[in-house]
Amino acid sequence: MERRGTITGWGKCVPPVKLTNADLEQLVDTTDDWIVERTGIHERGISHVEVTDLAEVAAHRAIAAAGLTVEDIDLIIVATVTPEISCPSQACTLQERLGAWNAGAFDINAACSGWVYGSSTASAMIEAGVADRVLLVGAEKLHFVMDYWDRSTCILFGDGAGAAVMEASTAGDGVLAHDLGADGGEGKTMVFPTLGTRGEILRERDPAIDRLHFEGQNVFKIAVRGMESSVRRALERADILPEDVDLVVPHQANARIINAATRRLGIPPEKVMMNIANHGNSAAASIPMALNDALDEGRISAGDIVVQTAFGGGVTWGSTVIRWGERTTRVGKADIELPPTDLTVFDLLADNRAFFAPYHEQSDD
Ligand SMILES: CC(C)(COP(=O)(O)OP(=O)(O)OC[C@H]1O[C@@H](n2cnc3c(N)ncnc32)[C@H](O)[C@@H]1OP(=O)(O)O)[C@@H](O)C(=O)NCCC(=O)NCCS
Repeated sequence: MERRGTITGWGKCVPPVKLTNADLEQLVDTTDDWIVERTGIHERGISHVEVTDLAEVAAHRAIAAAGLTVEDIDLIIVATVTPEISCPSQACTLQERLGAWNAGAFDINAACSGWVYGSSTASAMIEAGVADRVLLVGAEKLHFVMDYWDRSTCILFGDGAGAAVMEASTAGDGVLAHDLGADGGEGKTMVFPTLGTRGEILRERDPAIDRLHFEGQNVFKIAVRGMESSVRRALERADILPEDVDLVVPHQANARIINAATRRLGIPPEKVMMNIANHGNSAAASIPMALNDALDEGRISAGDIVVQTAFGGGVTWGSTVIRWGERTTRVGKADIELPPTDLTVFDLLADNRAFFAPYHEQSDD
């Protein structure tokens, strides 16, 4: 049998402080009803710690679930659009934190499609014999790049991390097929201008410039079409029909996007994993967090056909088709938690609100 990458461990880390729709009603002109009806989101995590801390907890949980130790990992891939810094990479920072000294490490930035790009890369590295046991992590601290005066964006995103261990298998399970795509020409529909080298070295951060630019309705249309056609291509490559899919684990951007894309594929809601209500859109962390919950809820059995699909900034999209292996329960549990905090969500967002306030005093946006 062909050598493929198969998932043998999984974990997630959700920050304890939540931003609820009721909290958002106090920050911007919105309502719980509007947010739930348009997005399906009730609350999202706001992290009191850094991306490495979130990633570390999710990683330890995934490694323990696989019955492995950090020394067994030979490659770490972190998918993130909000790394703490760009060099060392988030993956190298995590490697040091874990003490995973036998691993190579690098980051992937495909925004919200990062997890699917990462899964594809990890399984291809395993197929090629470059790696045997990959730790793949999606981790985000998105609240850092939001503007909590802007009701059209701040309601959507949340922080968190998810992780998986992918190991080599020749038993017929693992990633069967991939589809990755991008359209840089549409990149302007979703821009985080703040995290790069563009501009003068002396430029100070400016709330008018350093804010998420986002064309919600355009993104919505690209997302529905992009996910549907990407899943179709990946399934075709795996020679599997949509009706033979057991579970779709989509990027959790908006319940309406997920429903529209899967309806077009003819896949019924009971075969679609959704946990957006409690997490919001956590970009590259959203699929592994949903996968974690699907496994914990017993929604994946050995031999199931599981499809991961995403779209995101760039714009990017991608899907992977997986035949699930034998592992559907954790081998072990990691004894690790985030440090506790007494801070409220309003404490955690106070600096953000102070930074962007002058922009909103001058502008109606
Ligand atoms: C952002 C999004 C939820 C907005 O939903 P929508 O149905 O497209 O809403 P619109 O943008 O058309 O706005 C409709 C009205 O609601 C208003 N509105 C926007 N945000 C609001 C909020 N939080 N509360 C109340 N009203 C709001 C708008 O100002 C607009 O008012 P107007 O008609 O008076 O101008 C939706 O476009 C979306 O989910 N897009 C994709 C976003 C995404 O997932 N991005 C990440 C990709 S990885």
